[in-house]
Amino acid sequence: MVMRWPHFMLLQCLLLVIVGGIVYIHKDRVTLIKNPPASLAQWYKPENERQVWLHNMFKLRREMQAVRFYADSKDAKSLDKWVALLSEHYLKIGEMVPEWQKKLDVEAIARLQQNASSDRYQDVSHTLDDLSENCESCHTDYRIITAAMYRAPDFSSMEIGPSTSLEAHMEELTRQVNQIKIASEDGMQDVALLSLSDLEKGINVLGETCSSCHKKDTRVYPDATINKTISSLGESLRTGTLKDQGRELGTLAVLACARCHGTHRLAYDSRKLFIDRQSWVELIKH
Ligand code: HEC
Ligand code: HEC
Ligand code: HEC
Repeated sequence: MVMRWPHFMLLQCLLLVIVGGIVYIHKDRVTLIKNPPASLAQWYKPENERQVWLHNMFKLRREMQAVRFYADSKDAKSLDKWVALLSEHYLKIGEMVPEWQKKLDVEAIARLQQNASSDRYQDVSHTLDDLSENCESCHTDYRIITAAMYRAPDFSSMEIGPSTSLEAHMEELTRQVNQIKIASEDGMQDVALLSLSDLEKGINVLGETCSSCHKKDTRVYPDATINKTISSLGESLRTGTLKDQGRELGTLAVLACARCHGTHRLAYDSRKLFIDRQSWVELIKH
């Protein structure tokens, strides 16, 4: 069946209104986030060895500061030097990610160059403010999602053993922590000590994975403080009060679990949130 053009258009409009309506009705529960263009990936690991995009951004911030500084101190020669650098790295944004070319305020850069070359220091300062607004408008839309997608350490392919995923290992660790707590409260000393010994093994196995990324800083896990806490927990499971046992276990959970979660689980979860959402959007598109 061939649908006639006006009917087709009508249908499209109807669909748009329905989707718009649904989003509007659920507006308190819907978050609209823009995806950065896929071409951005080439400026991050693993496609690139360095975080090229981020380093260009750091240059821009430094160059804005320098331009402001030399405009305030009316130093024409240094001002020209830094305006040239700022222009180069700002325009590079559009070369690196062509989809973002149209987001650039190229006019502001031209004005900046003119004002600098004719020593209109006050105007240089005003133009910097305009440029700064342009920086911020892109950051509002894309900064957070880009950092989460491209810079959060990725644990998705990490395996603890030949057939143990990170997730399964985590569930095992948390089971042992809770088993210690339950057995301690119910006066089952042997069970508690056995679980502690399993937990200690599990922690040591986990610790062997850190060095795959932490090479230079050679993060030691478990470190001396964690090991000391494990042995004092063992001690208090044998001879201490219930209160001591609870406190030692709490300390261990903070040192051996929560500290790493504060960095890695949080960042990895938000990365997953954005990347999974993206593949979902891709699915609908295709
Ligand atoms: C077209 C988009 C876009 C424009 C325009 C832009 N940026 Fe960025 N900027 C980004 C993205 C995306 C990030 C996040 C990068 C990351 O975290 O890996 C970022 C991050 C940064 C950061 C790092 C922030 C932090 O503290 O982590 C700085 C500094 C920065 N930009 C400076 C600037 C300056 C100065 C300008 C204007 C002269 C500018 N940017 C213009 C997209 C843009
Ligand atoms: C997939 C790579 C990767 C693995 C595996 C990894 N880390 Fe990290 N970790 C990083 C990076 C990169 C940073 C720097 C901060 C950031 O960008 O999140 C970091 C930072 C941290 C931090 C916060 C900063 C600091 O140094 O105190 C802690 C704590 C940490 N890692 C603990 C661990 C522990 C413990 C393990 C092993 C059980 C581990 N990490 C395994 C990549 C990794
Ligand atoms: C690398 C540092 C790191 C350390 C140390 C760590 N975790 Fe995790 N944990 C993670 C990451 C990353 C995730 C997210 C894994 C995922 O979603 O696939 C996670 C997820 C979890 C989860 C949720 C698993 C699920 O089913 O989604 C539990 C429970 C957990 N960890 C318990 C623990 C306990 C208990 C300890 C301490 C004995 C601990 N973790 C130590 C990084 C760490």
